[in-house]
Amino acid sequence: MAGNRVVALIGAGNMAEALLRGLLGTGTVAPDWCVVTNKSNDERLGRLAREWGVRTTRDKAQLMRDADVVILAVKPADMRGVLREIAPHASDRHLVVSVAAGISLDVIEQALDGVPAIRTMPNTSTAVSASATALCAGRWAEAPHLAIASQLFEAVGRVVVVPEPLFDAVTGLSGSGPAYVYLLAEAMVEAGVRAGLDRDVARDLVSQTVLGAGKMLSESGQHPMALRHRVTSPNGTTMAGLRVLEERGFAEAVHEAIDRAAARSRELRGEPVRVPGTP
Ligand SMILES: NC(=O)c1ccc[n+]([C@@H]2O[C@H](COP(=O)([O-])OP(=O)(O)OC[C@H]3O[C@@H](n4cnc5c(N)ncnc54)[C@H](OP(=O)(O)O)[C@@H]3O)[C@@H](O)[C@H]2O)c1
Repeated sequence: MAGNRVVALIGAGNMAEALLRGLLGTGTVAPDWCVVTNKSNDERLGRLAREWGVRTTRDKAQLMRDADVVILAVKPADMRGVLREIAPHASDRHLVVSVAAGISLDVIEQALDGVPAIRTMPNTSTAVSASATALCAGRWAEAPHLAIASQLFEAVGRVVVVPEPLFDAVTGLSGSGPAYVYLLAEAMVEAGVRAGLDRDVARDLVSQTVLGAGKMLSESGQHPMALRHRVTSPNGTTMAGLRVLEERGFAEAVHEAIDRAAARSRELRGEPVRVPGTP
């Protein structure tokens, strides 16, 4: 249990629901210790109350009175408005946790003076409780605040603590990362179909292969290179396939993709960007 703290979710969209599923499903937070609000979608708020047994409200002053931990799960474009709404009711007894991509701690702390804040960067695998989430603590957040935020996000996957200047790198790596894996999976399915397999069969084989490789990586604790060596016999089939990927510059393409995504993250924040690979 998150220490008998009332957890409030501002925003009731995809990320909020994925978090609810993890927090309530693991018993990290009990439903009557959780309150959710959104902007105007009554149907969605009603469904979350029915399905999860959480309290709902549209009264942000009341929500802030009740809450100990306030998770901001609104789109980046709505963040400043929400910060303005809660600022009069926020104090140093709250912990504010933002999941909004690209919104810096500075923006949050300018709006919420003296309020402990944590910035997070989860990824879309939060929906299946397998997120890779980076956290960083703001200037008024202390170790116990970071511990609470870590506990909340461990309910939906793995957590790492990273200095805020590296959040663009995290965005390029694990934020955009699921899409790189989907592209690999898409190409593998296509190759299977071209080789004569039914599309559904190829899809099943590929999704289980990706899942299994991910589990090996995460559970064995071994370096990916060691795992790769273990499944590659000299002059065998895997080596023949890997050689093509090496010849075609697979690793370089991945490095460049992650650099470009991180550069785009900086660009979206309005920071001048040097495109990797150019002088
Ligand atoms: N989805 C992901 O996998 C993912 C991954 C990493 C980070 N994130 C971050 O998570 C955040 C939320 O993304 P999402 O995909 O969950 O968005 P979403 O599905 O569009 O949900 C946004 C929610 O914010 C609510 N909202 C907007 N203005 C509000 C206000 N003034 N007061 C209260 N609630 C308000 C909306 O309410 P109404 O529906 O009533 O308008 C909606 O419930 C984003 O900042 C995104 O960067 C998402």
